[in-house]
This record gives sequence, structure tokens and C-alpha cells, in this order.
Amino acid sequence: MSAPNSKTDGNPVGGGNSKGTATPIPRADESQIVSVMALARKAPTLEYTFQNILVSIATVIFASLSLTLTVLVVLPLSVLRAIVQKCNSGVLTLIPPEECRKRGKVVLIVGASRGIGFEVLKQYVPEPNTTVIAVSKDADSLRNAITHLGDTPATVQMETLDIGANSSKEIAKLVNEWDEKYGPISHLYAISGISNHIKDSSPWNMEVTEKIIQVNVSGITALSMAMYERMKGRKYGKICIVGSVAGLYNPANMISYASTKSFINTFATSLRVLAAPHNVEVVTVEPGFIDTRMTKKMRQQGSTVPDVEFESAEEMARRMKAGMEKGGVGVVSWPTRQMVVMNALQGKTLDILNMLSR
Ligand SMILES: NC(=O)c1ccc[n+]([C@@H]2O[C@H](COP(=O)([O-])OP(=O)(O)OC[C@H]3O[C@@H](n4cnc5c(N)ncnc54)[C@H](OP(=O)(O)O)[C@@H]3O)[C@@H](O)[C@H]2O)c1
Repeated sequence: MSAPNSKTDGNPVGGGNSKGTATPIPRADESQIVSVMALARKAPTLEYTFQNILVSIATVIFASLSLTLTVLVVLPLSVLRAIVQKCNSGVLTLIPPEECRKRGKVVLIVGASRGIGFEVLKQYVPEPNTTVIAVSKDADSLRNAITHLGDTPATVQMETLDIGANSSKEIAKLVNEWDEKYGPISHLYAISGISNHIKDSSPWNMEVTEKIIQVNVSGITALSMAMYERMKGRKYGKICIVGSVAGLYNPANMISYASTKSFINTFATSLRVLAAPHNVEVVTVEPGFIDTRMTKKMRQQGSTVPDVEFESAEEMARRMKAGMEKGGVGVVSWPTRQMVVMNALQGKTLDILNMLSR
């Protein structure tokens, strides 16, 4: 007796009809089995799915609590703040110590040669009694940018620094020198950053990743901490650190860049809490898609993000300055629609969508 599915003349057979003749059952092609298995493997496991259900429920609960707290407590406080601010001719200043009051604003902008940083520089140069220390890696592009500004009411000083090549000690030494020479520095804008995109013509590998970490993480952190130590010592200062919405939603095609920005978003937000008792205010900036050299390259490579989503660097800079000067702003994120969607999507939802689209 032949076993079901045993082969006869090389054909699979099985079962039978009423007359007892065996009917061939088409054997599943091995490649089909493999592709069904591969498809099944892409689907998340039950444990992982339950984990995500729990996370989603907790998210709904905490989002509801956050909404209640914001509406019942934070909103009345914000209204009170707006009233006090109005009675105080629109100003609620962080009181500077005597030495800073005498000196006026001294604004250190690192990454000032182009893009968002250059637009921040443009926000400060119309102010008299202000000194701006414009810093970037490439002396020529920085000089061109400053020359382009012409004569300005603010005094502009130019310095160069490669935050990706200098050690944290060297960066701290320079910050201390500039603070002595031009300071006391009242504002730091830590803006410099580099990115990669998987469609980039350059390869994505450890070397590229290391460079991005050196600039976006090590350089920006060293700079912010050196400045924070100085400001903490005199109990006054404002620090603005640029992360990204890319650090919220894990885009796989910007794997290294987005990972560095996750670090910066977290670092800056936590530093805000640690620095507050020392009268040092920290603002995290999480831009969405902004039209600069960085994103031009990505668009030339056929990015799927529509052109209308890329907003102006000038408006981004205006919002950064407003957040720094007003105080009471933890995170400046813009365009608003992108910020809302990215924050809502962060975490498990996109994780699952990413897995299914592999
Ligand atoms: N554009 C966006 O859509 C977007 C979105 C989210 C976050 N961001 C962040 O915003 C920041 C500014 O980006 P952007 O779009 O304005 O880019 P950008 O136009 O390419 O400008 C980058 C700036 O960083 C400076 N820089 C680069 N490497 C440096 C280094 N090793 N040392 C010192 N300075 C260095 C550049 O100076 P040199 O000219 O001397 O190289 C330049 O001033 C970055 O942190 C970026 O990650 C941008």
C-alpha cells in the first residue's frame, strides 16, 4: 500500500475516486512554500502584538491624563502668564546678573554659515548692543555669509570650529576662550549637524555613521555641556539645541542620522530639567522638513516627501528665537502639522508599519 503523497511516476498522488483510481494532487511548489513562510515571518508574533496592544492602551490612558492636566492646570497657568506678560509690557525676562546686563546679549551660534543657523544669525544682527559670535567649520562659507549681511547694528565676530574633529576637551577650551574674550555669553545656539540618506551616492557604513555621531552627538553635546558649565557658574544663560522630528519616528532610510537626533532630543529635554534650578533655560528644537542644503540633496535623490512639505528656514529661525527669548517653551517644533503627526506616530505604530513594509 502506498503512503499518501508518495510519488508515482514522479507525480504526487493521494486520495482516490469512487472507482479507486488515484487523482494527482498538485504538489505545492517549494518556492511557493518558501515565500509563504517568508511572508508569515514578516508578521509580528502574538507576544509582540499583545505587547503593542498594551503599549497602545497605556498611551491612550496617559494621553487622556496629559490632556486633562494640560486643560485644567497648564492652560490656566499659561493664561496667567500671558496676563502678567501683558501688564509687564510684553516682557518676562530671565534676570541677568550685573556683568551680563552691562555687556548686553552675547549670542554664540555654532553652524551659522548656512541653512537654519544662518537664518538665526540674521534674526540677531538687527539688534544694537548685541554681539554675535558666528561659528562654523568652513571659514570661506562663513566669511561669505557674514559679508552678505553687510553693516549691521549688532557686532559680528567670526570663529571657526570643526566639532567633528576636535575632542570634547578642545571644544570646551575654545568655549571658555570665547566666553572670556567676547562674553559673558548669554545665548548658545548649538545648530551644526550633518546627515545621510540611504539613497545617498555615498555608502552607508560604520565610517559614515561614526562621522555623524562625532558631529551630531559628541560635538553638540561637548559644546552644550561646556557652555552649560559656564552659565551654571554665573547662574544665567539660554541654550538652544537642535534635534529633529527624525529622532521621534525611526525612519530606516536615515538610520544613523535619526539615531543621533533621538539622542539629542532626549539630551536637550533632560538638560532643560537639570539646568532650570541654576537659572539656565534650555530649548530643544525639533524641526520637520526645512528647505536647506541638507534637504536639497535628499530631494535631488527622489525623496517621496512632496515639495510643499519643505518649509522656510527663516520662519524656523524666527520661532527658535521667539522660544529662546520668551522662556517657558520646552520644545520648538515646526511645521506644526508635521510635529503633530510625528509625535502621534512615534513609537510602536510606526515600528509595526515599518516591519510590515520590509
Ligand atoms: N533641514 C531640515 O529639514 C532639518 C530637519 C531637522 C533637523 N535639522 C537640523 O538642523 C540643523 C541645521 O541643518 P540645516 O538644514 O540648516 O543644514 P545645512 O544647511 O547643511 O547647515 C549645516 C550647518 O552645520 C555646520 N556644520 C556641519 N558640520 C560641522 C562641523 N563638523 N563643525 C562645525 N559646524 C558644522 C555647517 O557649517 P559649514 O558650512 O562650515 O560646513 C552649516 O553651518 C542640523 O542639526 C540638522 O540636523 C534640519
